[in-house]
This record gives sequence, structure tokens and C-alpha cells, in this order.
Amino acid sequence: MSNPRILLIGPPGAGKGTQSKRIVETYGVEHITTGDALRANKDMETEFGKPREYMDKGELVPDPVVNEIVVAALEDAEGFVLDGYPRNEAQAEYLDDQTDLDIVALLDVGRDELVKRLTGRRVDPETGENYHVEYDMPTDEAVRDRLEQRDDDTEEVVVDRLDVYDENTKPLIEFYEGRDLLTRVDGDQTPDEVWHDLRLAIEDALVDE
Ligand code: AP5
Repeated sequence: MSNPRILLIGPPGAGKGTQSKRIVETYGVEHITTGDALRANKDMETEFGKPREYMDKGELVPDPVVNEIVVAALEDAEGFVLDGYPRNEAQAEYLDDQTDLDIVALLDVGRDELVKRLTGRRVDPETGENYHVEYDMPTDEAVRDRLEQRDDDTEEVVVDRLDVYDENTKPLIEFYEGRDLLTRVDGDQTPDEVWHDLRLAIEDALVDE
């Protein structure tokens, strides 16, 4: 199977972005991430207002805006890893009409660890690379000096984002279990350990094709 179609789900901070990068490096698929696409178009105006205003409060951006991003990205992608979409049942139903999936991998991490990861995350504005104040700081001093915190990584917004996940996105676990696509991966390990387990799960799913 040369073009896997992988969906990563999990709460904010579970490591979806971190692991997506490894999937892209290993399988050469497209990384489709609604969060990055929305951040790259910071001042986008839509008929629902600016996505940025929803994001800064930790709320979901309206479905038509994100659906449009995903459907355009899927058109160009043979294989992909979807990260940050779908985030509610309406988006999952929409995705179902657009494409099949080979595996849905859930990265499981406890709430306290998620808060720690998100509030400690720092981003290099020049490369978009993510770091962490405790787990993973760049060795280059110039890079260290220019790191920024995402506006939605403050403790107050993080708590709201986790609540939005519990209410809207968590029900997708059952949605994909019902379609026999879901595999749970323990995300509360080092990035290398998570990747080890995730890769095995992906290989298993591809063999079962
Ligand atoms: P989005 O950008 O998608 O953010 P998110 O889902 O909240 O996820 P994050 O990127 O914060 O976390 P992640 O799981 O990728 O973790 P990461 O690998 O970076 O969405 C932002 C906003 O956009 C939403 O709130 C919403 O407003 C809007 N939006 C986006 N998609 C939408 C949609 N479909 N519908 C509606 N609205 C939408 O890791 C986090 C940190 O932990 C990093 O510092 C990293 O270095 C560290 N880390 C990672 N793995 C480990 C590990 N194993 N051990 C220790 N540290 C680790």
C-alpha cells in the first residue's frame, strides 16, 4: 500500500503535529492540518468572521471554513495524514463523503500532561518548528531567542480548548470505533516511543488492507 490515508485524533497537545511529521518523512504523504492552514492565513475574512477570533478563544472555527480547506487539500493528495480535522461529528460525516481512511489513530494523553505540554510549547516563527521549554529546546541560541508562544497556548485558553475537545471531538472515538478504524496509541511516552507504537499500528492497518 503506497499511499496510506491516516487520521490522527487526540486532544490538543497530544502530539499530533509531532507525530505527523514522522509520518510524512516515512510515508511521503501530504500533511493536512487545519490548524496550520488557519494560522498561515491569520487575517482571512470569511462570511463567519475571522477564524483567528475563534482560535484565540479556543473555540472551533465554523465547519464550512475548515471543510473547504480540507476538501481543497484532499484534491491534491494521494496519501495523507490528517491532523486536527475532523473535530466534531458533522466534520467527520463530511469527511466520510470525501474519502476513505486506512486507519484512525488516537493519541491518548492525560489532562495534566496536556496542559504542561501546551503551556510549555514554543514555536520558531521562521520555520514553524515546535519546541518545549522543558522537553525540547533548540541548541542554537539565535533560534532560542526568537521562540514565541502561540496565543492559544496560555493556561486559560488551553483549559477551554481541552473542554471543547471533550465536548465535540471525543465522541469521534465512538464514531470511528463503530467503523472499525480506531487504534489507540499511548501518547504519554517520549516522542520516539509514541512513534514506535504508532508506526506498528499503521503497518498493521496497512497489512490488513
Ligand atoms: P490546532 O492547531 O489543530 O491545535 P490542536 O489540535 O489544539 O493541537 P496542537 O497543535 O495544539 O497539539 P498537537 O496534538 O499537534 O501537539 P504537538 O505535537 O504540537 O488547532 C488550533 C485551533 O484552530 C483550534 O482551537 C480551533 O480554533 C481551530 N481549528 C483547527 N482545526 C479545526 C477544525 N477542524 N474545526 C474547527 N476549528 C479548528 O505537541 C505539543 C507540545 O508537546 C510541543 O511543545 C511538543 O514539543 C510537545 N510534545 C509532543 N509530543 C511529546 C511527547 N511525546 N512528550 C513530551 N512532549 C511532547
